[in-house]
Formats: sequence, C-alpha cells, structure tokens
Amino acid sequence: MRCGILTLSDKGAKREREDLSGEYLKKFLEERGWEVCFYQILPDEKDKIIALLKSWCDDFELDLILTTGGTGVHPRDVTPEATKDILDKEIPGIAEYIRYISFSKTPRAALSRGLSGLRKKTLIINLPGSPRALKEIMPSLIGIIEHGVSKIK
Ligand code: MTE
Repeated sequence: MRCGILTLSDKGAKREREDLSGEYLKKFLEERGWEVCFYQILPDEKDKIIALLKSWCDDFELDLILTTGGTGVHPRDVTPEATKDILDKEIPGIAEYIRYISFSKTPRAALSRGLSGLRKKTLIINLPGSPRALKEIMPSLIGIIEHGVSKIK
C-alpha cells in the first residue's frame, strides 16, 4: 500500500516551523507497513496543492494521500477547496467520522472543513494541522482507511 503525505503550512514550507504533523503521519503509517512514497510540505496556495495532488494521483497512482493543515477558517486555508477541485467523488462519511471523533476531544473540531474522497483509485483525506488532532484521530481512522483502500482495488 503506497501513500503520500502532504503538509499544508506557510510557516512549515519556509522552514519556520518544524513539521511535527507530517512526521507523525509518516511514522504512524510506516509502522503499519505502508510505503510512504512522498512526504512534502507546501504553502497554503491552491494552485500548487492542486498540481501536486493531481500528479500523485494520476502519475504515481498512490493508494492514499493524507493532507494535514489548511482546513480551518483562516483566509489562507484552502486545502478543502483545492481537494474539492480534483476529487471525482466525495466520501462525506470519512470527513463526518473525523469530526465525530474530534468532537469528543474539542468542540473546535467544528472549525475543520476537511473533505475526503476519491480521484480515480486514490483515496484522499484532509486532516487538521495540529499533531494533537492527528494523535486523536489516526488510531481509529486507520481501520476505515485500510478497509476502504482494499475495496477500491
Ligand atoms: N480535531 C481534533 N481531533 N483535535 C483538535 O485539537 N483542532 C481544531 C480542528 N480539529 C482540533 C481538531 C481546530 S482548533 C481547528 S482551527 C481546525 O481543526 C482546523 O485546523 P487546521 O487549519 O490546522 O487544518
């Protein structure tokens, strides 16, 4: 199972902030036997995000792309808009599940606008940016991801 991890953060892209979220996702997936083919940090710029997501799906046919960051309400946050532009089909239930899990931790989960869906055979999931959020979400989300990916094949 081949995946890509994309961190969206203006500060992260300028190396002004360590990308603890991307590193957490990389370690988490590798420990479960995933091959992390790509791990990249981009600034919150819609055109760049679209180009990279398209390339990872269309040229490299990854099974899974996890994005972290840029899902909130800051004017620079555009991860859901970029993702929406390139999805063939949305899978609303995955995004609903992420918020459902998150609400048991913080009502601020309502501020994450993340989407999930398919482009061709690649499952794409937007996750919030904080490492704490990822630690709260990933342990129960991974079972859904792995079942979903096995069904897409
Ligand atoms: N989800 C979980 N599980 N835990 C959290 O701490 N933080 C929320 C939300 N989702 C949070 C969470 C907050 S405060 C914000 S602003 C949004 O995610 C958006 O985060 P992002 O812009 O970094 O993607």
